[in-house]
Amino acid sequence: MSGDWTIRRAERRDVRELLVIEQAQFPEPWSRGLLLDEITNHATRRYTVAVQDGRILGCLGVMFVIDELHVNTLGVAPGEEGRGVATSLLDDAWADAALRGIIRATLEVAVSNQRAQRLYGRYGFAPVGVRRRYYERTGEDALVMWADLAPRVADGPPDA
Ligand SMILES: CC(C)(COP(=O)(O)OP(=O)(O)OC[C@H]1O[C@@H](n2cnc3c(N)ncnc32)[C@H](O)[C@@H]1OP(=O)(O)O)[C@@H](O)C(=O)NCCC(=O)NCCS
Repeated sequence: MSGDWTIRRAERRDVRELLVIEQAQFPEPWSRGLLLDEITNHATRRYTVAVQDGRILGCLGVMFVIDELHVNTLGVAPGEEGRGVATSLLDDAWADAALRGIIRATLEVAVSNQRAQRLYGRYGFAPVGVRRRYYERTGEDALVMWADLAPRVADGPPDA
């Protein structure tokens, strides 16, 4: 679905609102300094926000390592879940990744976070391993997931 929000790159002025989402949605929220680093490092990071009526509904931070993409963070403001915000942020990042020639994507997600895992599954992510006690505060394990992002140019014409 396409929502009534727009997606744009995050800016320094967004940090205060992003900290609220971080603190509401993650047991180990990012600090202001880390967020600022992620937002301003355009060389290897792409941090986007979904905005409706001037309010941030969700955010996605990805990192590029050569031809791979790493999902660093994905969060939707409390009360705004289930509207397709995360899906539209991922769609936007995937379109950009195709232009950059990214061929694989990876992420860590808490083993108990079934909702996020279902979402990631729709993007072709599959579990490949577990990082034990990855989340320091909760002691929870993380599932490591990978997805192949088949470049469209490689599809080529079908055999005659
Ligand atoms: C996980 C998370 C990012 C998902 O964000 P979201 O915006 O709710 O995700 P979407 O709306 O795009 O998709 C989630 C569900 O809503 C459904 N949905 C999408 N658009 C919808 C709509 N218009 N109406 C009803 N349902 C809809 C999707 O089918 C999906 O269903 P599912 O739960 O059965 O899989 C969000 O819940 C969140 O911030 N969680 C806490 C932080 C977190 O876990 N982050 C990910 C780990 S790093």
